[in-house]
Amino acid sequence: MTDEAVQAAVEHAATIIASSKHVVALVGAGISAESGVPTFRGAEGLWTKHGEPDLRDYDRFREDPRRWWERRLNPAPEMADFSASIAAAVPNDGHFALKDLEDLGFLQAIITQNIDNLHQVAGSIHVIEIHGNRTKLRCTVCSARWPADEFPIDQLPPSCTECSGIVKGDTVMFGEPIPREVLDECVDETRKCDCMLLIGTSAVVYPAAQFPLDVRRLGGKLIEVNPERTPLSDESDVVLRMPSGAALPLIVERLRQSGAG
Ligand code: APR
Repeated sequence: MTDEAVQAAVEHAATIIASSKHVVALVGAGISAESGVPTFRGAEGLWTKHGEPDLRDYDRFREDPRRWWERRLNPAPEMADFSASIAAAVPNDGHFALKDLEDLGFLQAIITQNIDNLHQVAGSIHVIEIHGNRTKLRCTVCSARWPADEFPIDQLPPSCTECSGIVKGDTVMFGEPIPREVLDECVDETRKCDCMLLIGTSAVVYPAAQFPLDVRRLGGKLIEVNPERTPLSDESDVVLRMPSGAALPLIVERLRQSGAG
């Protein structure tokens, strides 16, 4: 994008955000790319390099949760590298810009597909983790959650201290249903949303990819921030074809200058 095109797109995005009542950001792996966390489907993406897991992941867990835990405690090299990159990651300007938008009253919620906990580390408050959080464990029965480093693993599989259900990582596996309470909150935010920011997502994984289509169907606006085209680019009112770590701070700055909010 030329500087003029960036300026015009930032201006347009800021105008839409300032005139919207309920702004929600739908976020994907791209926002954390600038923090050194690989994406999934990009050129260097985890699935591009190692193949996408099949939808039987969760079935395998349920068939043999002990074996699943043994593999979690001794991960395959490619997953160990991924976990190491997430563990070492710190938020970037994209994460901090979303926190600023929330602080300024322009952003009401973040629906993140990321499991890396970087929104919370950046200080964002209203974060809905549709695919879970890698730093947490969850009971498969009552959905109780714990910080993973505070839950005693004294047997495999570990059992819930509330209901004795089987405990697993909070991360949602392929083939696993999104926890009901989380999905309900996403649907509720989408229903209220009149402007959705699409940040660093290829928008091909459902149900998350459905939310922008629902916002559109209900007459809301879409603003895409992504260096690459996605299936939602033509549906979007504004497209910033650039990294989120560069684009989002420009939008915050424009809103601050306009004195809106
Ligand atoms: N800024 C913004 N977007 C970026 C950046 C960046 N710096 N770098 C890459 N991107 C974009 C890519 O162009 C791509 O469109 O981020 C997107 C990442 O897409 P995916 O790798 O498919 O990640 P995501 O959309 O989050 O995947 C959804 O799929 O595999 C599952 O559970 C996993 O949550 C994940 C879900």
